[in-house]
Amino acid sequence: MSRIVITEFMDERAVARLRARHDVRHDPQLVDDGPRLLKEAAACDALIVRNRTQVRGELLASLSRCKVVGRLGVGLDNIDVPGCEAKGITVIPATGANAQSVAEYVIATAMLLLRGAYAATASVAAGAWPRAALSSGREVGGKTLGLVGFGSIGQLTARLARGVGMEVAAFDAMMDHDHPAFAAAGARCAGLDEVISMSDVVSLHVPLVDSTRGLIDAARIVAMKRGAVLVNTARGGIVDEAALAAALKGGHLGGAAIDVFGVEPLPATPHFQGCPNLILTPHIAGVSTESNERVSDVIASKVLEHLG
Ligand SMILES: NC(=O)c1ccc[n+]([C@@H]2O[C@H](COP(=O)([O-])OP(=O)(O)OC[C@H]3O[C@@H](n4cnc5c(N)ncnc54)[C@H](O)[C@@H]3O)[C@@H](O)[C@H]2O)c1
Repeated sequence: MSRIVITEFMDERAVARLRARHDVRHDPQLVDDGPRLLKEAAACDALIVRNRTQVRGELLASLSRCKVVGRLGVGLDNIDVPGCEAKGITVIPATGANAQSVAEYVIATAMLLLRGAYAATASVAAGAWPRAALSSGREVGGKTLGLVGFGSIGQLTARLARGVGMEVAAFDAMMDHDHPAFAAAGARCAGLDEVISMSDVVSLHVPLVDSTRGLIDAARIVAMKRGAVLVNTARGGIVDEAALAAALKGGHLGGAAIDVFGVEPLPATPHFQGCPNLILTPHIAGVSTESNERVSDVIASKVLEHLG
């Protein structure tokens, strides 16, 4: 029997599957209690985390008998993967398990932002009837969705976008232009500059690594089509948040949906105050009832398999 420590929330049914075979400590408060986290980590054979637990430095050093780190999600920027590998620890992400939730978030926010009419509840209820002001919203049908990053989430987003009549152009630094995934998802392979400058909606689906940090900087935001919208469900640090806010306030961009931030939780941020047509969400694009179950189930299975 191995010792499994889970430092953030995990679906209880998946935890029960782990408990049936191993000694499990599931404590979602552990991530916020440094000394206790280090103590628990030192005694574990498997560690399961979401995105808040930083598996690096002191925590990594304390993993003296750990064989596997399960990540309840996809991005590995909170884990020192080479450091884990050097200690013989396998890192397992839940690739693809939350793709549907993120892809739906992209299509939903693209529709909300292009149409620009759904925040009228208070004024309609108050009897204002702002029909003229809300009559020039745009449809997604026939518009171009530009994807930066064409892995699990990018490809599924392309399929959903095709389903609502969008054209899709996609850039992926690691994929050749004739990669079959483009045709399979109904997307056209394009260069980064073209995706940025030609798209009505630009959506980001790359990991946060050195080559993507600051990728959507002020110059690339200015290079976007006038009135275009930006959706970032990938990672904070990829988009220059202040430049984005300035482009919204100045009217160059038509809207933005931002789920991930350079600092999380996002503190009160003056540059976002008063931005028109801006949707901010607290890193929940990939988090839904269904995806929580799938992600937890996938990681439970893979960790069980790894522990043997
Ligand atoms: N907001 C959320 O709740 C949420 C949920 C899931 C994933 N994410 C983020 O979304 C990212 C993408 O997830 P995924 O499941 O599609 O991952 P994935 O690994 O399947 O795909 C990432 C793609 O990005 C490509 N890529 C890497 N560097 C690039 C670059 N410099 N330029 C262009 N493409 C590049 C890779 O080749 C790969 O195809 C994750 O890394 C994670 O940070 C966020």
